[in-house]
Amino acid sequence: MSAAKKAILSSRSIQRVQRELRKRTQLQLKRDNRRLFHEANRLKRLPLYLFTILDELKAQACRRGVDVIDLGMGSPDLPPPRHVVEELIRQSRKAENHGYSRRDGVVERRLHEAIMDWYQRKFKISLDSRNEVLPLIGSKEGISHLSLAFLNHDDIALVPNPTYPVHFNGVVMAGGILYNLPIHPENHYLPDLHNIPRSVLRQSKMLFLSYPHNPTTAVADLKFFKDAVAWAKQHRIMIVHDFAYSDIVFDGYRAPSIMEVEGAKEVAVEFHTLSKSYSLPGLRLGFSVGNRDILASLAKTKSYVDFGIFRAVQWAAIKALSGPQDYVHHAVATYEKRRSIFTQGLRRAGWDVPIPKGTFYVWAKIPLKFSALTSLEFATLLVQEAGVVAAPGSGFGEYGEGFVRFALVAPESRLSDAVARIKKVLQMAD
Ligand SMILES: Cc1ncc(COP(=O)(O)O)c(C=O)c1O
Repeated sequence: MSAAKKAILSSRSIQRVQRELRKRTQLQLKRDNRRLFHEANRLKRLPLYLFTILDELKAQACRRGVDVIDLGMGSPDLPPPRHVVEELIRQSRKAENHGYSRRDGVVERRLHEAIMDWYQRKFKISLDSRNEVLPLIGSKEGISHLSLAFLNHDDIALVPNPTYPVHFNGVVMAGGILYNLPIHPENHYLPDLHNIPRSVLRQSKMLFLSYPHNPTTAVADLKFFKDAVAWAKQHRIMIVHDFAYSDIVFDGYRAPSIMEVEGAKEVAVEFHTLSKSYSLPGLRLGFSVGNRDILASLAKTKSYVDFGIFRAVQWAAIKALSGPQDYVHHAVATYEKRRSIFTQGLRRAGWDVPIPKGTFYVWAKIPLKFSALTSLEFATLLVQEAGVVAAPGSGFGEYGEGFVRFALVAPESRLSDAVARIKKVLQMAD
């Protein structure tokens, strides 16, 4: 181990961080053991939810009076479009919108059509609004229920790792078999579909993809999707493409939809959300499009667990999708500027972070000097020493270890402050 690494590990701040994390983990275990009713094994199979630990550390820092800059969660800070919020208020006032949602109702039909039109305008793809479109209570809900709809205990789901946690957590909750496809910077964070053992392929039912990618910010071109669709047809495996960041792209890059591939509808479904493009994560409105049989099974699963989407929310979603799109362009320009300020700042501070083409994240390899620390330890160090919250890479799967993710969900001045504070941490033990 280098002298610099030894110096970091023996520094008082790191020892405090490690003590604190040990205490938090033991506390969680103690709390679990004291319970009268023990959770089902499927919950025990889920990885530790690292955001809970970070939330506690953040709360602790706030109690100490630290002015915390929270770049942990990908929850947009921009105010949502005014005309959408106004529609939500207007429609909420109407008594008829407070009943249970019905598949054949007026707003339900209109929302299906608005999604169909949005797809046509954006990607030049024709959808059958009735059978190839399914609105969701946020895309997370739909993605996790899709695993429940399709996975038996001996079915494998192929999941790139690291990735947005619901891709693997949904599989575990459904009781399916999770097979990690490690993705690395050397392969531009694209999974190698052609080196999966035959025995695994025979048992595989689903492949999860998501580009622009959270957390790595990687993007994929249409050729990659063409290859994936051909592979999926050959092996009779369904593709689930999570397209949450379809709009959040920079430098003139356009993110292709997997549905642009000829014949994609035979094997694929694609998920979208209003949470990112329209800064409406609290609204809980997402949708999926594509293969009608897959969507019918997802709708069937949902019919046993939810009662659809609040009608006022559906009206608001129609406004967002069908109205003027300047809001989205403005939001993207804002993230693009933030991206430049943050990445250039960190680079000037000596941290050579990549410049993302898509998403509003920065995925940064932990600097060499700190590489003896786990990503959770490094993220804890950032909260405690800099008052900056970042997401530890290991929260996105074991192959995310060694990285942290910053969400650019704070104004430019706060991002500059964050850079200045991080710079001081980077200079520790210099
Ligand atoms: C890749 C990805 N998919 C889905 C979601 C969840 O979106 P929603 O708010 O629609 O559930 C997120 C949220 O961070 C995400 O990053």
